[in-house]
Amino acid sequence: MAEHVTITYNGTAFELPVITGSEGEKAIDISTLRQNTGFITLDPGYANTGSCISDITFMDGEKGVLRYRGIPVEQLAEYSSFKETVYLLINGKLPTTDELNEFSILLNDHSLVHEDMKSFYQNFPRASHPMGILSSMVNALRSFYPELQTLEEEINITVTRLLSKIRTMAAMSYKISRGHQVVYPRSGLLYCENFLNMMFHTPVRPYKLDRAVVKALNVFWILHADHEQNCSTSAVRLVGSGRVNLFAAISAGIAALWGPLHGGANQAVIEMLNTITENGGRIQPFIDKAKDKNDPFRLMGFGHRVYKTYDPRAKIMKKWCDKLLAKLNIKDPLLDVAKELEEIALKDDYFIDHHLYPNVDFYSGIVLRAIGIPTNMFTVMFAIGRLPGWISQWKESMDDPNWKIGRPRQIYTGPNKTDYIPINKR
Ligand code: CMC
Repeated sequence: MAEHVTITYNGTAFELPVITGSEGEKAIDISTLRQNTGFITLDPGYANTGSCISDITFMDGEKGVLRYRGIPVEQLAEYSSFKETVYLLINGKLPTTDELNEFSILLNDHSLVHEDMKSFYQNFPRASHPMGILSSMVNALRSFYPELQTLEEEINITVTRLLSKIRTMAAMSYKISRGHQVVYPRSGLLYCENFLNMMFHTPVRPYKLDRAVVKALNVFWILHADHEQNCSTSAVRLVGSGRVNLFAAISAGIAALWGPLHGGANQAVIEMLNTITENGGRIQPFIDKAKDKNDPFRLMGFGHRVYKTYDPRAKIMKKWCDKLLAKLNIKDPLLDVAKELEEIALKDDYFIDHHLYPNVDFYSGIVLRAIGIPTNMFTVMFAIGRLPGWISQWKESMDDPNWKIGRPRQIYTGPNKTDYIPINKR
């Protein structure tokens, strides 16, 4: 007999099937619970709730494991490129040489952004955060690139458009925010090279591509490419479940990622390290603040809902911090502060007892600074990296034969039926 759990209420027993994943993870399928018992489940923050069955990414938070389509992220960071990882996530397998070449051609073909979009960028107030701009502009793409004829076309072309244009749009917003001339994509450059060139090339100082910088950017984006059902991915799936177009669903994901508890943490880490430095470099007061329950301050770049050990992405990122800074001969004082902070926190009973370790955002900002990315663009860099994850999760949900619109329930605790009182009698 298939594995099941039994719940008993008021002497009546109900059986609920157990679902087992390919890595032995177990779930109780409660899809018939309400119909059979009248009960719903309550799980704030969905900490114990599986929202879908997925073939894309596997994480083991206790052991610090992350794999895309079965391949360990450490191997992808070492040997793959971001473009190849994107293909893997979206298509479910590594590409052949021909498939990768074809994918490159498609990405090049769709890399330009409609010229009329420039005027939108020019009209955002100067102080606008690039994440707000990116989310709005991605949503606006539907107006410029209307729906295609078939679902297959819609999936293939829209997906490639987004993957390619997001780089152009991010670089464009940076150039316009500085009052500089926009640099267009060049077909002779690879995915990451093109982005760097669009960001940093100027007519007076042509951008010189450095192999270590290009590799570091590939690694940064590979490490961010997917992370199963996190806050922004769940937003994409939930918004997408209403059968909205892909641009709108991704725009919702970008908005969700912006938060400092999620992707916005990479910017917040650098701001925190700067504040520590400006306050004389003493770390203990910040550790004490983070431990104080009456103080909302948290150590940014520390802790994770799933990882209860060192985030495997943070390990790779830390290695790349040292490598890149050495290669570029950069001495970043924030790296010393970060390392000292990590050392103190990892020896502190509070962080040990709460299983709080550095996450991907702790060292990523220092890599981005070395590349030359301004701090307010850090979360945009995360968004470009996470885009293939959002797209593959959206695509999987579109293909799911058991698809349902996302619609959680609640337990109501407000007033019971209350009669309306006319305004003159209140
Ligand atoms: N500093 C101090 N205490 C912390 C921290 C932190 N960074 N993170 C969690 N805690 C404490 C928290 O106060 C709570 O303590 P207690 O049980 O005594 O009340 C306990 O640890 C559990 O925290 P939680 O908020 O219930 O855990 P969560 O799983 O809901 O939150 C998190 C996960 C990432 C939002 C949280 O760890 C956090 O706020 N970290 C800082 C922000 C950050 O770095 N975010 C990036 C996450 S990785 C990138 C991504 O994928 O989004």
